[in-house]
Amino acid sequence: MAIECRSDDRSDRVALDLNDLYENAPCGYHSIGPDWAILRMNRTELDWLGFTAQELVGKRNFAELVAERHRSAYEHTIQSLIAAGGIAEIEIELIRKDGSMFHALLRIAAVRGNDGAFVHTRATVIDITARKGAESEARTRAEQLQAISQRMVQLQESERRDLSAELHDRLGQDLVAINLNLHLIREQLSAEVLAKIGPRLDDSVALVERTVEAVRDVAGALRPLVLDDYGLVITLKSYGEQFAVRTGVRVIVTAPQPVPRLQREAELALFRIGQEALTNVLKHALASTVRLAFAVDADSVSLTVADDGCGFDVQLPTGGHSQGLGLLIMQERLHAVNGSLRIESRPGAGTSVIAAVRRGS
Ligand SMILES: Nc1ncnc2c1ncn2[C@@H]1O[C@H](COP(=O)(O)OP(=O)(O)OP(=O)(O)O)[C@@H](O)[C@H]1O
Ligand SMILES: [Mg+2]
Repeated sequence: MAIECRSDDRSDRVALDLNDLYENAPCGYHSIGPDWAILRMNRTELDWLGFTAQELVGKRNFAELVAERHRSAYEHTIQSLIAAGGIAEIEIELIRKDGSMFHALLRIAAVRGNDGAFVHTRATVIDITARKGAESEARTRAEQLQAISQRMVQLQESERRDLSAELHDRLGQDLVAINLNLHLIREQLSAEVLAKIGPRLDDSVALVERTVEAVRDVAGALRPLVLDDYGLVITLKSYGEQFAVRTGVRVIVTAPQPVPRLQREAELALFRIGQEALTNVLKHALASTVRLAFAVDADSVSLTVADDGCGFDVQLPTGGHSQGLGLLIMQERLHAVNGSLRIESRPGAGTSVIAAVRRGS
């Protein structure tokens, strides 16, 4: 016996299926009317919010479920949709019945009647609590990392200061005392003894004097006191000269116009960046010449350290084969004084480190 299937039954079934899909979809659905009252809300969204349909539908304005700090953004979105149509997306927090918050992404469209007047919205609601949690954790981690690198820069500075003081005050003064003693001893020696050990004594005096110089240079590099008195250009010129003597790499420092004085922190940051860039040239670049060029414009002072060495792929983190901190610390130092850092390099084409700070910083 054939079963007759009437079209009414079929459309009832379709309607039931559609209703089931609306009510139990894996996302929330709701609509609000011209007075913003909730006209419909599916079961998924009701469950997420902890309300029954009787508590919300026809009774509450959806804006009341939006967390205070997102409410004006939500209201603005709905007003623009009503006025101009289209589809809007907004991330907001919704307030559950128990008062807890719920991160949601709403995609809202405005439905209009034949006369063009706004009738109601259609909104889908997606639960983005997990994504927001991950974003907030990533933000916390980034903040912690930044705090650690800031602390690292402070520690580096204070250790350099202590070491410089130790070198200058203890080692430097002891060396001066040894030098004095050697001169006193020389004066006390008879001509006969002097003839025998004089040259060795003179050697020792010269050695002590060279060591005093070296200690002064190292102490100066650790804590560049001349920076305060003479400014960046002279300090980096003198550091560059010592670097050239020590390493055999040619160093050229240029400043086409007078470089205005900056705050001490900004000058120290640029000096340290120059130091680290030169150290990198020595460690990695196999360069023969490095140029330190200052440039000044109405807003900023910049220092470019450009070498003619092997270069590296800047796209790869830390050159692809390093756990180094130098570039990271450069960035951190500039960040602390509102400056910016750019690295330009390609394998075989040299490297330029460009650090800029705002004038008046
Ligand atoms: N002037 C340069 N020439 C060629 N490669 C460079 C140059 N400067 C940096 N690099 C590359 O970038 C990487 C990262 O530099 P960074 O200063 O951060 O670390 P590092 O020098 O290896 O270690 P650290 O500075 O902590 O002692 C280097 O390991 C190197 O591969
Ligand atoms: Mg380095």
